[in-house]
Amino acid sequence: MLYQSWLFFALFMVQFACQNKQADTEENKDDSMNTNISEATFAKNGMVSSAHPLASAVGAQILKNGGNAADASVATFFALAVVYPRAGNIAGGGFAVCRLQDGSVTSLDFREKAASAATREMYLDSKGEVVAGLSIRGHLAAGVPGSVDGMIELHKKYGKMSWKDLIQPAVDLAKNGFKLTSDEAKVLNRFQKEFKEHNRFELHLVKNQVWQEGETITYPELAQTLERIRDQGRAGFYEGKTADLIVEEMKAGKGIISAEDLKKYHSVWRQPIIFPYKEYKVITMPPPSGGGIALAQLLMGMENYPFKDWGFNQIQSTHVMIEMERRAYADRSSYLGDPDFVKIPTDMLMNKEYIEKRLESISMTEKTPSDEIKEGKVDLIESVETTHFSVADKDGNAFSITTTLNSYFGCKVMVKGGGFFLNNEMDDFSVKPGVPNQFGIVGDEANAIAANKRMLSSMTPTILEKNGKLFMVVGTPGGSTIITTVYQVITNVIEHGMTLQQAISAKKFHHQWLPDEVIFEENTFDPAVLKQLEQMGHLMKPRKEKIGRVDAILVLPDGSYEGASDPRSEGKAIGY
Ligand code: DON
Repeated sequence: MLYQSWLFFALFMVQFACQNKQADTEENKDDSMNTNISEATFAKNGMVSSAHPLASAVGAQILKNGGNAADASVATFFALAVVYPRAGNIAGGGFAVCRLQDGSVTSLDFREKAASAATREMYLDSKGEVVAGLSIRGHLAAGVPGSVDGMIELHKKYGKMSWKDLIQPAVDLAKNGFKLTSDEAKVLNRFQKEFKEHNRFELHLVKNQVWQEGETITYPELAQTLERIRDQGRAGFYEGKTADLIVEEMKAGKGIISAEDLKKYHSVWRQPIIFPYKEYKVITMPPPSGGGIALAQLLMGMENYPFKDWGFNQIQSTHVMIEMERRAYADRSSYLGDPDFVKIPTDMLMNKEYIEKRLESISMTEKTPSDEIKEGKVDLIESVETTHFSVADKDGNAFSITTTLNSYFGCKVMVKGGGFFLNNEMDDFSVKPGVPNQFGIVGDEANAIAANKRMLSSMTPTILEKNGKLFMVVGTPGGSTIITTVYQVITNVIEHGMTLQQAISAKKFHHQWLPDEVIFEENTFDPAVLKQLEQMGHLMKPRKEKIGRVDAILVLPDGSYEGASDPRSEGKAIGY
């Protein structure tokens, strides 16, 4: 069988990857660009860049075995569900942006949906106030999962290897076990209390002693669930035993997802957001992600300014990027939601004149007062801890996939007997207009809760073309910072001439309109630049937590691939 050789290959690659990563972070620092340089991976025939070396190794082996980028994406996805359970999942959702060898593009929306019993007031008390935590932890926080259907659709449309061969590596990992990385061990230790608090049985992840790096962990019940998905496809998750276990779990925890909700969940193929930016074509995710439209506003707006001359993280370049981000996020919060429920003025929001009009109010000497920003006037309504991985194969097929449970381990509830965590994606709705969600982001009517509606997302899986050829595959987790991180990686490469690895490693900053502050990673700015930005009126807030965990691929001038993973995580790009 094709999958039998993968484990050996995976172990070899992981050992190699870990050695490399250590050398990267300890030794190779290039302060001139204010970046931590990590080593990129170079390969001619294909590349998988993901948040976990074992998942990348699974995908790379599928490519080696003759699978295409869709096959490798499916296999990587299910491997992440085992080795990276904080975000990899089978009961979450996500988006895929796809570009085929022949230049055709599409996007797949496998975002979770609100259950049919969901209501606008479900997280409010009798006085109409938000009940703290209700949309974040516990059964009621879960949306109807989309991931398994998404992978089935992707495979049906583009895959060429057998479904079973793509799921088997994940089954083997779950059944035979794998060694915990240091970060995974730390994360499991950090969430012990929450695992106990939100589950009606003792999870096998709960332990008296701490989890150690290098310790072997297995997921026997998850292995059985994956076997059902392997053998029965869609019905292995949305019907039969797995569906029964989810519904039982819901009943036990006062959740509202029904057997009918599961049965009728379907992902949707959507026309991606496509726009020109200089000599590039950007292909990215449409609503229910807010990412694509915001990215279009940010990159198209950039063409009006000499960013290359201003330079990386200098006063003018940073100030204008912040001001553009404030305007893009204000539009997001007013206009964006599930396109199946609300009319979104997409063309207008991406109209060059509209974007330029929005930029007219940017002063080069001071910050625009917040009450003057709000959303833009759109007068033409047309008829209207996540993880990312990037895959490209030898023929130039490319898939950019971001998937999430929303928070680490979603709502923290593991389905008894199923071995997998449920998402807490309901918090991405605006649970009450103007009340911020866990990412501090506010929303309005367009993103209000309704039965069977999809919640607005920031996930921005993106692909760039240059002169009609594949150029970049990029994406990241990070909640509301996803859009600005993807934006900065693209501009770091295109405007500032960085390599992909430098662009990813470079420090990031972020403004999302509200709260009215710029968060940035420590040491992002030269002290003089920082002082000047403060004098212009920006509230600059350094933070210890990292921004973004990008996994991306760049096509080099000779047609080979540079794969790069974020030094902020333990991910790895593996090619062949
Ligand atoms: O869809 C969204 O925008 C969020 N649920 C993503 C969450 C996320 O990135 C958390 N990870 N850091």
